[in-house]
Amino acid sequence: MGIVHLNGQLLPEEQAKIPVTDRGFLFGDGVYEVIPAYAGNFFHLDEHLARLQNSLDGVHISNPHSSAQWRQLLKQLLNANHANKADYSIYLQITRGSAARREHAFPQETHPTVFASATPIIKPSDETYAQGISAITLEDTRWKQCHIKAISLLPNILLRQQAVEAGAAEAILLKEGYLTEGAASNVFIVLKDEILTPPKSAELLPGITRDVVLELTQQQGLNSREAQISEQQLREASEIWVTSSTREILAVTQLDDQPVGKGKPGPLWSRIYADYQTFKKQLRQPATR
Ligand SMILES: Cc1ncc(COP(=O)(O)O)c(C=O)c1O
Repeated sequence: MGIVHLNGQLLPEEQAKIPVTDRGFLFGDGVYEVIPAYAGNFFHLDEHLARLQNSLDGVHISNPHSSAQWRQLLKQLLNANHANKADYSIYLQITRGSAARREHAFPQETHPTVFASATPIIKPSDETYAQGISAITLEDTRWKQCHIKAISLLPNILLRQQAVEAGAAEAILLKEGYLTEGAASNVFIVLKDEILTPPKSAELLPGITRDVVLELTQQQGLNSREAQISEQQLREASEIWVTSSTREILAVTQLDDQPVGKGKPGPLWSRIYADYQTFKKQLRQPATR
């Protein structure tokens, strides 16, 4: 059982309790982050904290900590879990806190609830990376503020579940005929030797992995850019990738039961995946902290 952070305290997970009046529990009124830490080194912590700030601003919860305080708090959490050698994923959640009455509008005075845990990253198997995954397309039924990393994930859960029940690993979402993102990932396609991903907007979460992948493609001198992607372009793509902090970059080799390209991870995926692993390896070295 791990050690978690709850409102300024480090304690065993089974002892961490929140009141049933917490608005996170009652309304899903809160935001979260998922931050990888490789051998104790945070992966793009500043970018994760900047996105957290945007999410907090989006739901009008004031940030309970400065960046320096967050860094210290999360470092203490890693240390308490002896998480400085392996790869860990930090889950960080802030809710609007508790109120005496269950009312939709914000209570007058609130004290945000801060929770963070660190668990070992369980990456997909080497075989999964080598073979790629299957995905299905679904209509994006979520709300209009998908750039906020809100804990109220019911639509994402239902979409991912629909994919799993169809034997697929991810749902790729389309809104009015255009690609937005995955149920829990961003999406890239390779179309006529160009690497494309939808531009940031309120229709998708600005993934930290997405930004890193885009940067890696540009460092490699590959042809990559942000662009609206139609359903037809998605179906014509020779490669499709999904990106996220814990699954990194996975090739989608089957879309709606049709092979993507040759039905196996493509050459550009192999290149960027290898670069990503090199980037992670460098991050594990203490000298690059
Ligand atoms: C809806 C959605 N889009 C994109 C992502 C990828 O974001 P990141 O690369 O920061 O993990 C996630 C991650 O969980 C997500 O839930």
